[in-house]
Amino acid sequence: MPDQSHGHPDGGRAGQTALIEMIDVDKEFANGTVAVRDMSLVINKGEFVSFLGPSGCGKSTALKMISGLLSVSNGSITVNGHLAGQSPDASDIGYVFQEANLLPWATVFENVYLPLKLRGLSRKEASARVEEALAMVGLAKFAKSYPRQLSGGMRMRVSIARAMVTKPKLLLMDEPFAALDEMTRAKLNDDVLQLWESQGLTVIFVTHSVFDPSICPAASSSWPPVRAASSTISRSGTAIRATPPTA
Ligand SMILES: Nc1ncnc2c1ncn2[C@@H]1O[C@H](COP(=O)(O)OP(=O)(O)OP(=O)(O)O)[C@@H](O)[C@H]1O
Ligand SMILES: [Mg+2]
Repeated sequence: MPDQSHGHPDGGRAGQTALIEMIDVDKEFANGTVAVRDMSLVINKGEFVSFLGPSGCGKSTALKMISGLLSVSNGSITVNGHLAGQSPDASDIGYVFQEANLLPWATVFENVYLPLKLRGLSRKEASARVEEALAMVGLAKFAKSYPRQLSGGMRMRVSIARAMVTKPKLLLMDEPFAALDEMTRAKLNDDVLQLWESQGLTVIFVTHSVFDPSICPAASSSWPPVRAASSTISRSGTAIRATPPTA
């Protein structure tokens, strides 16, 4: 994503606690492709920020740098006061990709248990949290099912439960519902909003949603959920933000 420098990077919302601070970030890949240039953005705790923009403008690259999956070429990114990727607690970030990426041979329970298993929790220690995460996405009754027995939308819910089971502070979602039909997508979009509002999460949501904020006033769109404050607009990529209804 290119220059985000229209106005102050924090969007002018004083008095809130920053969770993510990106300052003058560039990403140049080894082959010379510059995916992100001069990106500065502050995301406060509890905000819902959407990255919008045409294919190839750097949305996924920005998300991967925030998560620490990719390094920055220049500039800096801090998440909760730590350089991206260097948080002492990797559970702070949940990542949901476009594909559900479930283990086909494992049950829904086992798929959601996986991040806790990797952190050394026994099945018994983890079971209440796995069940809670499944209930959160409306799949409490499907713990024993296998991914092949679920619809595409249900599989995405499992992947959200898997991202939520570590109780992350930050949920990164990279076009998670793009492959689903419109009605399922609308329902899951609502579910994500509900999770955001009820869990005190900070969410970054990459979407191909077609509305263009420069044509369509952001406040008139129900998705992405722009209800507030400010937007940061760049040449071809856009970050728009909403604060929780209670804020
Ligand atoms: N590992 C890589 N090596 C080289 N170039 C890359 C790499 N990953 C991405 N790019 C390039 O960086 C640019 C931004 O890619 P990115 O995946 O961030 O775009 P995007 O906005 O997420 O696009 P889409 O909407 O299609 O997912 C593109 O030109 C892409 O080809
Ligand atoms: Mg992408």
